Amino acid sequence: ANVSPEYRTAYHFQPAKYWINDPNGPVYYNGVYHLFYQYNPYAAVWGNISWGHSVSTDLVHWTGVGLALSPTDPYDIDGCFSGSITILPDNTPVIIYTGITSKGEQVQNIAYPKNVSDPYLREWIKSDSNPVIEAADGVNASEFRDPTTAWRGRDGLWRILIGNKVGLGGQAILYRSSDFVHWVQAKEPLHSSADRTGVWECPDFYSYDGKYVLKVSLQVNWVDHYMLGGYDEEKDLFEPSEEFVGYRNWRRYDHGKSYASKTFVDKLNGRRISWAWLNESDTVSDAVEKGWAGIQTTPRVVTLDSNGRQLVQWPVKELESLRKKRVQLHDAELKTGGLLEIKGIRASQAKHGLLIHAIASFFIFWITYADVEVEFEVSDLDGAEHFDPTWLVDPQKLCTEKGASVQGGVGPFGLLVLASEDREEQTAVYFRVFKDHNNTYKVLMCSDQTRSSLRTELDKPAYGGFVDIDIKKDGKISLRTLIDHSVVESFGGGGRTCITARVYPTFLAKSDAHLYAFNNGSTSAKISELKAWTMAKAHIG
Ligand code: FRU
Repeated sequence: ANVSPEYRTAYHFQPAKYWINDPNGPVYYNGVYHLFYQYNPYAAVWGNISWGHSVSTDLVHWTGVGLALSPTDPYDIDGCFSGSITILPDNTPVIIYTGITSKGEQVQNIAYPKNVSDPYLREWIKSDSNPVIEAADGVNASEFRDPTTAWRGRDGLWRILIGNKVGLGGQAILYRSSDFVHWVQAKEPLHSSADRTGVWECPDFYSYDGKYVLKVSLQVNWVDHYMLGGYDEEKDLFEPSEEFVGYRNWRRYDHGKSYASKTFVDKLNGRRISWAWLNESDTVSDAVEKGWAGIQTTPRVVTLDSNGRQLVQWPVKELESLRKKRVQLHDAELKTGGLLEIKGIRASQAKHGLLIHAIASFFIFWITYADVEVEFEVSDLDGAEHFDPTWLVDPQKLCTEKGASVQGGVGPFGLLVLASEDREEQTAVYFRVFKDHNNTYKVLMCSDQTRSSLRTELDKPAYGGFVDIDIKKDGKISLRTLIDHSVVESFGGGGRTCITARVYPTFLAKSDAHLYAFNNGSTSAKISELKAWTMAKAHIG
């Protein structure tokens, strides 16, 4: 037996059992949050794709309320694929989703709640008009899926996008309707790309004060990419701003294992929230043995950075209600080669010559699921390693070559999470600061899974992304890491760079996890503040 029951998450959403993938149709409706998801009701592997459905009043605790959609009709007999919810002007929610027909064609269908006064909207009735959209001649019908939430133009017509493949590239086809049932394809897609992106899955389209976001999920690298740009409402065309022209210049929601994200507007709190699927990094036989596969990210509030250049994501504040015991550190020096266990030790117990002014706390602090916020202070940037501009295109490669134990100048410093006591197993989340030829600094963030488990058959890459902050001006880098059994979800620079990883330490089967801070740079760094909370278990399922 390879797998440990300890891999099940305590506060990252997953159903009671079996396979899940994409989040679908997230919505806030009459006081209740709904999360639907691609679900196999019979096994821990992909298949029999249905819509699972869970509800919550706080985005933290979830209750499963049964299947919303099952593949039972000619227009969806081979799967109820991803889709969205729109609330119509009469306050009726409507699902629009992709069905796979017995011929393998992808069509779009709609469904309405059987009873809108059921607070959980448990039963959904598929429309007699299904399919409401079929691929027209010239549209690739086997890559034609994942309709967005609709928006209304000044002409009063609804608009949706459907992801598609065209040549080796992709496009977001736009459709218009007055009644949500009859849809007309626009002459031009909202946007398309001839780059080798493959099909655009799970498109998402939304705006902040006139600045628009187009997100697409690409199987070429299993990454959610986004562009920022403008939207010509007359022509129904999206135009990426200059920095986002060309697939290579699109940005990533998350630099780790996160896919098929979908956002919704939380009407209660006036914020946009994103969910995304976190696939497993273990094997199919592990999934069968565990009896489950796939979880969701924490729900993240998505905003536009004040510099207008990128999105910023941060876990919803409701998650903080799970925070329990706290350990806090102030002004802890992390000298070259320094390692500091975060466990509420008293200052006098400090080892390795570290100067620690820890707030004494006396409980043992084992961390299998926790929330950690830390701020690193770097006052001396002179020792930063030289930056080669060709590295900009592939931060993941840089993190792979410059792992946590590879000594640097300013950094690597960061956290070792889900670490065994002997640290033979550990996941490192850390930063490295570089200086380029014109004396500007680049901050690299990495999540290194190569030592996360002794098991060799797992996918244990290092992930990486640059953090768009001005380290010279700020002198500080912040990191928040959500640790939860088999997931490490990290936010660098206040959520400007996100990296999520799946890990399967073997020691979890027999002992609890430890947390350390480290510095393998040649200059010392300081933890100006660290707060770590053990978490309460959420009700999920
Ligand atoms: C993305 C995706 C979608 C599709 C669904 C099928 O992960 O491939 O394009 O609707 O999963 O489960």
